[in-house]
Amino acid sequence: MLEMLNPVRNRIAVNAFLRSSWSLSVFSRFKYSTIQARKYPDEIVLDGKSYKTDEWTNIPDFILELTKRQLHQNPNHPIGILRDLIERNMKDMGYTFYNNFKPAVTTFQNFDVLGFPDDHPGRSKSDTYYLNKDNLLRTHTSAHELECFQTCETPGYLITADVYRKDEIDRTHYPAFHQLEGARTWSKNTPNLEEQILKDIESIPKTNIIVEDPFREQPINAENPKQDYMTEKQVQLIQVHLKKSVEFLVNQVFETARESARLAGSTEPYLNEPLKIRWVEAYFPWTSPSWEIEVWWKGEWLECCGCGIVQQQVLLNAGLGEDKLGWAFGIGIDRIAMLLFGIPDIRLFWSLDERFSNQFQQGKIATFVPYSKFPGIKRDVSFWLPTDSLLHENDVMEIVRTHAGDVAESVANIDEFVHPKTGRKSQCYRINYQSMDRNLTNEEINEVHNKVEADLKKYFDVEIR
Ligand code: PHE
Repeated sequence: MLEMLNPVRNRIAVNAFLRSSWSLSVFSRFKYSTIQARKYPDEIVLDGKSYKTDEWTNIPDFILELTKRQLHQNPNHPIGILRDLIERNMKDMGYTFYNNFKPAVTTFQNFDVLGFPDDHPGRSKSDTYYLNKDNLLRTHTSAHELECFQTCETPGYLITADVYRKDEIDRTHYPAFHQLEGARTWSKNTPNLEEQILKDIESIPKTNIIVEDPFREQPINAENPKQDYMTEKQVQLIQVHLKKSVEFLVNQVFETARESARLAGSTEPYLNEPLKIRWVEAYFPWTSPSWEIEVWWKGEWLECCGCGIVQQQVLLNAGLGEDKLGWAFGIGIDRIAMLLFGIPDIRLFWSLDERFSNQFQQGKIATFVPYSKFPGIKRDVSFWLPTDSLLHENDVMEIVRTHAGDVAESVANIDEFVHPKTGRKSQCYRINYQSMDRNLTNEEINEVHNKVEADLKKYFDVEIR
């Protein structure tokens, strides 16, 4: 409880994942998910492996379908083009590239080995897609840190992969997205280690970024301590190497974004301002100290990458010697790809419409040319909640997503009030059903919407108005 009250510590929950809308109505979730479990077959086969379902299973079919797409491996898709751009910039800098990891991982890989506490909200069924109690769709690329530290033969590695989190549905949020993870280690036994790290720092190409970093000189404090096995000097140097590497990467990507905007004819003033970033403190269970980089872009700070000095225990778990030290970072790439390619809606990445896919080619950052959208169908659902209801907005989202799949364009709580006499609470949600690829019919949406209403009644006891 104390932790919840401490605004700094509370950031653990907020940024333990880069885009999170952790919400804690565990009980309402539990109720819904328990009933949901009946909907699943006895086993789910994914990438040639069979998973016995149980009361943790909560992956709708349309999410399983998304795991087959592997957009980051498609060299002519914006996500694949961005991955390729980053890899080309980091080539010959000592990184091995891993792009083939399958999305199903164990709770051990995704959480335990990284030191996630048992009660971390990221573990809850309401935030994560479980195949069963022990297996899930990775929620971040850090799930592969262990095996990469184990197998990597170069000083560092980069992983790109699709990751999955239950999330709200809107223009910038989608339950599947992509991350790029990087890590780099040194051995304490390197002769003149400090000089070596300094040399490695020198070898990172310089950028013109304006950097705001209150922690560069003094990277450790009581909230974000150094690990005992490292000296202050080692932390300081490795931190600089980490931050300069991330700045280099971010600079390349955002400079490319500006270049493509200019080529597309934009004359907006931000195109001529130097790129500005700031470092803020962060907390991740498997790094200490930890930070996040934010990029000033079109008038707002864009959170884009969490990082830190890897906890020795993670390195030891991977079988590395006690002499190893290193850093890791993780960047969400969909939002950046949206900026680079001028893509207004994250769902377009998953479109199968050729009017989308034909616009992009390997090695080129083209600005997306919008084509006419298929019309959406709006439906409202208003209801009275039972007393002490634990219904949470995410539950409504989840019900809509279960029945509408990809056709759920947005879900918003548009009205809420308490009846002055009876004290009963009423809510109204507006759902926009829209397909990226085709026209919807009223009949099919009525059917979906009826199922949504039925589930709200059945699992949350609401009275439809
Ligand atoms: N995996 C973290 C996230 O999804 C990012 C991260 C990676 C942080 C590596 C630290 C080290 O938010």
